Amino acid sequence: MRSPFKCAAALLLCPVALASQKILSGGHSHSPLDDAFERFALQTLDEFHVPGLAIAIVDGENTWAAGYGNATLPGTPVTPSTLFYGGSTTKAFTAAAFTQLIDSAAHPDVTWRTPLARLIRDDFVLAPAYAWAQEHLTLEDALSHRTGFPRHDKSLSTAYGPDGHKATMRDLARSLRFLPMVHEPRVEFRYCNLMFMVASHVLQTLTGRWLGTTLREGLWRPLGMNATYFSLEDAQAAPEHLAMGYWWDYSSSSSSDSSKKKNGGGFGEVPFAGLDGASGAGAVVSTVLDYAKWIRCLANEAEPLSKAAHAAIKTPRMTPVGTGKGWDGPGSYALGWMVNPYKGHTIYNHGGGMEGYGTEVFFLPDLGYGVVTMANTAMTSNFAGRTLAWKLINDKLGVAEEDRYDWAAAQEVYSGHIVKLRFAVDRLYPERTEQPLPPTLPLQKYAGTYYHPAYQNLTVEVDEGTSSGSRQSSKPQLKASRANAVWEVSYEFEHVSGEYWAVFIDLKNTPNWLSGQVAKAEFRLGPDGWADELVIEYMEDGTEGVITYERVE
Ligand SMILES: *[C@@H]1O[C@H](CO)[C@@H](O)[C@H](O)[C@H]1NC(C)=O
Ligand SMILES: *[C@@H]1O[C@H](CO)[C@@H](O)[C@H](O)[C@H]1NC(C)=O
Ligand SMILES: *[C@@H]1O[C@H](CO)[C@@H](O)[C@H](O)[C@H]1NC(C)=O
Repeated sequence: MRSPFKCAAALLLCPVALASQKILSGGHSHSPLDDAFERFALQTLDEFHVPGLAIAIVDGENTWAAGYGNATLPGTPVTPSTLFYGGSTTKAFTAAAFTQLIDSAAHPDVTWRTPLARLIRDDFVLAPAYAWAQEHLTLEDALSHRTGFPRHDKSLSTAYGPDGHKATMRDLARSLRFLPMVHEPRVEFRYCNLMFMVASHVLQTLTGRWLGTTLREGLWRPLGMNATYFSLEDAQAAPEHLAMGYWWDYSSSSSSDSSKKKNGGGFGEVPFAGLDGASGAGAVVSTVLDYAKWIRCLANEAEPLSKAAHAAIKTPRMTPVGTGKGWDGPGSYALGWMVNPYKGHTIYNHGGGMEGYGTEVFFLPDLGYGVVTMANTAMTSNFAGRTLAWKLINDKLGVAEEDRYDWAAAQEVYSGHIVKLRFAVDRLYPERTEQPLPPTLPLQKYAGTYYHPAYQNLTVEVDEGTSSGSRQSSKPQLKASRANAVWEVSYEFEHVSGEYWAVFIDLKNTPNWLSGQVAKAEFRLGPDGWADELVIEYMEDGTEGVITYERVE
């Protein structure tokens, strides 16, 4: 998925002998996945607290793959055929499905520049202030994160309507009319999962079928990607083993209290997440062997995609993206791919994250070379995957050790992020008074249900301070939760001054603050002394705009 962040987690250099399996097909070159690499891989997993990882390399005619560590604890090993959630690496498939639709005779009127409003008229409606954007945002804008909409991930719901029916892509598209944009269209890169859900709705509307079927028939079957799925139910029914997702409890790893450790090593299990709400933004479950077939197709511009389709996929459509750190310069976004210059080559890359999983994909078309990693923790799997992929890419390109960017150190996963959270109040409220004013009302009076038509119900309660959670406090404080969130989160309020608060938001299923975020919040009181509104500015990726919830209970 997404997003955000940095590991100075304790280096425990004690790699254990773990099951791994190597596959060699094609020519007869020496596999880079040798014993030395296996030691490096196990050390990297240990450093980043990842139970297991699968990796595949495509190099000309060769495919090499291996599994390291465990797919499911205590001892089911990762193999190249282990299933993992692919998260946002799904986006490249969604874009590729559009190339096939645009190529097909069935939709001669659809191009990359077709406005979304022309394709899903009643569903692509924006707030009145964005009339121009409503008429002019195109398919290409949605697929390259340049619409002016931020993520709004915390608005995404698994249920909609008064009947609380299961979310459809149409419901998700229809939530746009209640959401703020944060930029004019096409001026800045803002990663937005919701726009890929809108794109999924377009595809499903035009083809009249489930996107999973379109992808299987158009791409996966022709490529022989038979272990690639688009729903949790299909992945669980598959012959391949679906890896369990985990989170590492950093607070227990530094604790001497062994009863705090989960599964004997600080790992907690993440329940398998349903994928119906993720669709074209992140619903793929697959193996590194299947992804190797996909990278080979992309790197070699092979069938089942046309030459025009490959060219469209690789065309950068939004720039700049990222700081360029570690690369030769800032990148761009093509259709479902980050594009970056590196040592005279162009590298296409995309990460994918889900609660409990992280996937990284890289390919270099000029060399017919690519690497994919899949592993079973959120965030840290991407850091571990990048560390391994970069070693292989730099070895392949013959980059001298001293010229290599230190991806592992740059990421300081845990400490960097915790520091960021610790100073959150200073960042959110730099001009706050030194002598904070007390809140006007007793805490209990703020408790209630606050509603926004897209962000839905936020239920605020008083936590008496006996709370668990990693931000423990002995004082009573406000906390909040929301039903039916696609990514379930918990909200903890920290009082700043008067009616102003800082809100710390963490994923419920991986509560180690690696995905933690902050928000500014203000309660607005009516003349009757009742908290009428709760105004929150979510700060993920800068700001998500201001969301005003109305008190309903
Ligand atoms: C994986 O399982 C094996 C066998 O049970 C065990 O020895 C090893 O410590 C496990 N690895 C990890 C990373 O937990
Ligand atoms: C994938 O499944 C199809 C249809 O069942 C079969 O023809 C094909 O050989 C399979 N490919 C691989 C690589 O298993
Ligand atoms: C939101 O909360 C109100 C008040 O409890 C309730 O009537 C309403 O059904 C809830 N809406 C949703 C979408 O859950």
